Amino acid sequence: MVALAEAITHPAAGAALDIEQVGHAFDIDGTELPVLSDVSISVEPGEFVALLGPSGCGKSTLLRLVAGLDRPKAGTLREDEARITRPHPSRVVVFQDPTLFPWRSVWDNVALGLEAQGILKSQRHRVDAALDLVGLSSFRNAYPHQLSGGMAQRVALARALVNDPKILILDEPLGKLDSLTRITMQAELVALWQRKGFTTLLVTHDAEEALVLANRVIVFSDRPARVKADIRVDRPYPRHRGDPYLADLRRQILGLLGLDATW
Ligand SMILES: Nc1ncnc2c1ncn2[C@@H]1O[C@H](COP(=O)(O)OP(=O)(O)O)[C@@H](O)[C@H]1O
Ligand SMILES: [Mg+2]
Repeated sequence: MVALAEAITHPAAGAALDIEQVGHAFDIDGTELPVLSDVSISVEPGEFVALLGPSGCGKSTLLRLVAGLDRPKAGTLREDEARITRPHPSRVVVFQDPTLFPWRSVWDNVALGLEAQGILKSQRHRVDAALDLVGLSSFRNAYPHQLSGGMAQRVALARALVNDPKILILDEPLGKLDSLTRITMQAELVALWQRKGFTTLLVTHDAEEALVLANRVIVFSDRPARVKADIRVDRPYPRHRGDPYLADLRRQILGLLGLDATW
């Protein structure tokens, strides 16, 4: 098992995540909109978990709760046993849009987290290391408008990695990239995860992407999201898109999402 092997190579790299009977709702003009219903997911340190579900079912909401950006209406979330109540650099999110500051260089964008913590002066090497990890060292002085979409998303990834996260939270990070860049970055993500060993939560709308990347795929129902299936993907990396085992799982997942896999 890759997760286990990674956990041994990187004993403290990833945190355990326990989502326990979490429910959430939003108040819209006095009417309650239920978004998450009794969601329980237990993630082992170093696992790569993909979350799939219909658009608007509550996936991003769940990620915000894991990040500590919101508090759940019911249930609890824990990182290594400690209750999650607020954001922390050990749990960082990468969104679909890189949201870089256009007036800051690549290096200065990546440095933001350390700057905010007031530790940049002594930790400048971490910015260099994060840029190196995503292969952008030679673009350290470039500005966001000089980057391709894939490069901008790599900068956003480096900006997260500079925090040395124990849980990396990815909300459709490759969703806006062209398909070639996407495939390249999928391989890069796996390599990064294998090298660093952080626990990864990835929301994607692409079943194939989930199956190429994750050791576990969780499928949610329509809103309010509840766990419909929790599927183990027992295949070594790198994975092959044509693998019949993965094709079978893909059919199963698309069926759960109410789609026919005819191609
Ligand atoms: N801050 C908010 N206030 C009110 N409604 C929200 C808020 N955030 C999300 N929602 C609603 O909650 C539902 C789930 O949203 P979201 O978690 O973004 O879904 P997903 O990421 O699965 O597409 C949607 O109906 C959305 O309109
Ligand atoms: Mg979303």
